[in-house]
Amino acid sequence: MERVSTGIPGMDDLLQGGFLQGSSILVAGGAGSGKTIFSTQYIYNGAAEYNDPGIYITLEEGTTNIWWNMKSFHWNIAKMQQENLIKIYRVGMFNPKEFALQFDEEIGKIKDMVNEMGAKRLVIDSTTAFGMFMGSDADIRYNLFKLITEMKKLNCTTLLLSETGGKRDEFSRFGVEEFVVDGVLALYFFPPVRSVFVKKMRGTDHDKRIHPFEISGDGVSVNPTEQILWESLNK
Ligand SMILES: Nc1ncnc2c1ncn2[C@@H]1O[C@H](COP(=O)(O)OP(=O)(O)O)[C@@H](O)[C@H]1O
Ligand SMILES: [Mg+2]
Repeated sequence: MERVSTGIPGMDDLLQGGFLQGSSILVAGGAGSGKTIFSTQYIYNGAAEYNDPGIYITLEEGTTNIWWNMKSFHWNIAKMQQENLIKIYRVGMFNPKEFALQFDEEIGKIKDMVNEMGAKRLVIDSTTAFGMFMGSDADIRYNLFKLITEMKKLNCTTLLLSETGGKRDEFSRFGVEEFVVDGVLALYFFPPVRSVFVKKMRGTDHDKRIHPFEISGDGVSVNPTEQILWESLNK
């Protein structure tokens, strides 16, 4: 089975080399835990190091913010965009009354973009943002499943971001997303310590420990050899 490198130093070591191609991974964590930076780096390094076209879909922040993020790490995003290796796409606000229709339209647009670019990597920042427009947990599960299935058909490896309350045993906002996806990564920030934990990864004999996670001027990285104790994370 083919693996897709995460593009995060140290992270592939926890995952037998990377994500399974075509899989969908929830990146869960509280505000400021590093979800957006982690995922922009997944897209940027995918393009810069592996020549993988990638699309960053944002519902949370404007495209400019995502730009700033990439620029603040001295990544040459303009070059990647010119070469059509990276696209940042902003989904507009949904109208709650027409959500189902608009959601299908957006999936259609994403599929077209993926096909057009031959995208291999996709990020949706975040599922929390569109989950707000869905009625029940069953709705969220159904729509997420629909989205993931479409991306799988296109063989796109997809990160779905989920903003949680940031506690150590919270792995999604609505409590259902973690069951639909193939994998779950938890990012923690209990000041001053940042850490990462692979909660689930289908088809992978993944690392079971919690590891230090760092954000610096070069982007994010994981220390695959050091570990942090579960008991030291706040409940
Ligand atoms: N250049 C940098 N060096 C170190 N830490 C940074 C840098 N840029 C941002 N950060 C940290 O990253 C946080 C934002 O991470 P972000 O990925 O946007 O979080 P999330 O998407 O989970 O809310 C900031 O609050 C800050 O703590
Ligand atoms: Mg974010």
